[in-house]
Amino acid sequence: MPHRGLLSGKVGVPVWRWCGQARLQGIRARRVGVAGVCHGVWVDTDLWDAYDKMGLSFQQHAADSAYNAHYDRPAVLAALGPVTGLQVLDAACGPGLYLRELLDRGAEVSAFDASPVMVNLARQQAAGRVRIDQAALGEPLPYPDGAFDLVVCALAIHYASDRAAAFAEFCRVLRVGGAVVVSTQHSVMDWLRKGGSYFQTTLETDMWHTPSGDQPVHFWREPLSALCTAATDAGFLIEKVIEPVPAETMRERYPDDYEKLSSEPGFLILRLFKPARPAPSPAS
Ligand SMILES: C[S@@+](CC[C@H](N)C(=O)[O-])C[C@H]1O[C@@H](n2cnc3c(N)ncnc32)[C@H](O)[C@@H]1O
Repeated sequence: MPHRGLLSGKVGVPVWRWCGQARLQGIRARRVGVAGVCHGVWVDTDLWDAYDKMGLSFQQHAADSAYNAHYDRPAVLAALGPVTGLQVLDAACGPGLYLRELLDRGAEVSAFDASPVMVNLARQQAAGRVRIDQAALGEPLPYPDGAFDLVVCALAIHYASDRAAAFAEFCRVLRVGGAVVVSTQHSVMDWLRKGGSYFQTTLETDMWHTPSGDQPVHFWREPLSALCTAATDAGFLIEKVIEPVPAETMRERYPDDYEKLSSEPGFLILRLFKPARPAPSPAS
């Protein structure tokens, strides 16, 4: 994603930047599986492979980056609300920055990520206090029905080839009355920087310039309505749509990002509610 990996740094701080690349067209499949073929596009890599490669450098970056630490996390944690005593699933937990916050706030946390490297980093953060599985968004999750009060899925749903299946699994593992908070790249931001039709769902690539070299990061870009439909078709009601603004902590630390994100959308947050009975679809 542009901004998870993007840090407009100060002098002396490693700068992670992205540059847009052409949309992927007809890439060859290395293995047909989780990434597979979607919307007519062959993917030659699992989309979490980039995180395996970035490993610790992603953790170090995300711990204090403008877009993760001063934009996404404060807004998502606010959208989650109090978590004390709640069973929370951290879906696509990455190196465990959320789960540490959630534990500090008194939640009972379980977590998973598709990247084995991220799972290991998260286990180090959790120091044995959290069950952390290797599992993929859009695949069956290793948890019973109704196991959780809350699911948080920060900055990862755009890597899932089947967003509808990912939401369906979130719905299954949540109790009735539970909620999911999902943050992702704002569709308008992706459209503005990538061009083409806003309404097409396409696999895109950003090149992240990391301290350990350039890293292509693939993600799914889709219109906002497609993301919302995937969630509501899974049985959720949309409780809140949040277009976050930067935390005040960003103002001095990353003034350029602060100015930009104060006037343009970067990320989007949905808070989704699991009702007692799925809402009837307009068609039925
Ligand atoms: C930007 S990081 C976000 C990590 C964490 N949620 C956070 O905000 O700090 C995206 C994470 O999604 C994971 N990921 C990518 N595709 C995934 C998939 N299909 N299933 C599960 N995890 C995936 C990556 O391995 C990576 O850890």
